Amino acid sequence: MTEPTSRPTRQEETAAQFSEHAAGFASAAAHFSAESLKLIGELASVAHYKLAIDVATGPGFTAFEVAPYCDLVIATDPAEGMLEQVRRIAKERGLDNVEALAAYADALPVDDAAADLITCRTAPHHFPSVTDFLDEVARAVKPGGTFILADTSAPEDDDLDAWMNDMEQRRDRTHVRDLKHSEWRALLAEAGFNQNFEATTHVHMNVRDWSARTGVSDTDLEAIIDTWRNAPEPVIEAFQINRAEGPREDYSFSWPVFVTRTTKT
Ligand SMILES: C[S@@+](CC[C@H](N)C(=O)[O-])C[C@H]1O[C@@H](n2cnc3c(N)ncnc32)[C@H](O)[C@@H]1O
Repeated sequence: MTEPTSRPTRQEETAAQFSEHAAGFASAAAHFSAESLKLIGELASVAHYKLAIDVATGPGFTAFEVAPYCDLVIATDPAEGMLEQVRRIAKERGLDNVEALAAYADALPVDDAAADLITCRTAPHHFPSVTDFLDEVARAVKPGGTFILADTSAPEDDDLDAWMNDMEQRRDRTHVRDLKHSEWRALLAEAGFNQNFEATTHVHMNVRDWSARTGVSDTDLEAIIDTWRNAPEPVIEAFQINRAEGPREDYSFSWPVFVTRTTKT
């Protein structure tokens, strides 16, 4: 008799989807040339850190950005395909202080208070529990240590928030929720982080490229394009939606990104 195989958890399904599309993420300009990446480098550059951890590192761009200011960066992600990209790109860039390790955001592979710096960019909106993630960062970082966070964020207006999160879920079944800035501020304070910097950057994308990175089917893509075509005026304005050049109907847009640097109390 064969052993019954247990169903993968939602976290495992998310990691499997990212593993499958890892190469696409590694070559996506929206990921490696985003304003938030440069800003994280600037925010980190004010100090030198013995041990840094980049949570949900994807192909490792944030880990590489802070690596010049660290003795060692542990780039963590549950998707093995992403960790392969980290190792490949680190080698290409000649970075020997970046180590790739498999881990979920709520189970980082270090002792309590081990890290001087923790970073996480463009990922918490995939986590099943942002509270568990923040509690884990609070455990792993030293008191007085630095936590730099950047994530796609929803506007404070409830209708815009609903439009954006609905679109995100239709394009990517691993999407959980883009939080509002007010929600982030409250959660960070609750987990024991004092904010010393906050900004909004933007990530600029085209709908077709963005959807290709998550393997949206042709039928779903046409329905998604239809929703962008019929977006109401406040949505067009909030997300800077424009008809994109090209042979096929497409739209350019930009999502807001919440960026903050905090200190652990
Ligand atoms: C958009 S990519 C991250 C990009 C990357 N941080 C950067 O700066 O370019 C999102 C990543 O989150 C990871 N991820 C999804 N769910 C996760 C979880 N529960 N714990 C840790 N990582 C997770 C995925 O495997 C994926 O690599």
